Amino acid sequence: MTDLQELILHRRSIRKFTDRPLTFEEKRAILCSALVAPSSKNRRPCRFVLVDDREMINKLMRCKLIGALPLETATWVLVVVADPTQSDAWIEDAAIAATFAQLQAEDIGLGSCWVQVRGRDYNEETSSSEYIKELLEIPAQMEVECLLAFGEKNEERKPYSADKLQIERLHLNKWQHRAPWLDKEITY
Ligand SMILES: Cc1cc2nc3c(=O)[nH]c(=O)nc-3n(C[C@H](O)[C@H](O)[C@H](O)COP(=O)(O)O)c2cc1C
Repeated sequence: MTDLQELILHRRSIRKFTDRPLTFEEKRAILCSALVAPSSKNRRPCRFVLVDDREMINKLMRCKLIGALPLETATWVLVVVADPTQSDAWIEDAAIAATFAQLQAEDIGLGSCWVQVRGRDYNEETSSSEYIKELLEIPAQMEVECLLAFGEKNEERKPYSADKLQIERLHLNKWQHRAPWLDKEITY
């Protein structure tokens, strides 16, 4: 297990993968993390559809016109689904579960990329979520939050460093007060 701070700084979206399939242990680690993610009132409204069939991944890639390219070489895709009738915080719950899965992938040396689905469109009549639900036979009341593309990394990306933090986004006690001391405290 790596140091969490190190892990977070090194995690980058990976959009190119080798053709090595994920092992059972790798998949299990990612799924355990997604399943154990916190949820509002512990309602656990999220479900996950595991897709390893190349033809199906190609079809998922067509869910929107731009931004789905990480699926082109992904060997494993997790479709993050939630039931809005179970929780009014389903978007947050799904996003946290997806993030847990991505951080777990990084921890075991794998790459991943979030592909946004909620709020995106397949075409003028059909949302990306509806297209995916039809494709995977997901019940009507469910919503698709995102697709997570996973695989062995086939590109190198620089980790984050101090100049990328944008500390101007921090406010001390009140909005108009900057937090200048953080300049000295953060030493990545
Ligand atoms: C909510 C959300 C939606 C995203 N949607 C997409 C997407 O549809 N396609 C894509 O290639 N990357 C997507 N990304 C990845 C972002 O582009 C990426 O996180 C951002 O550029 C910062 O880069 P980094 O992840 O390497 O730090 C998404 C990330 C988030 C958090």
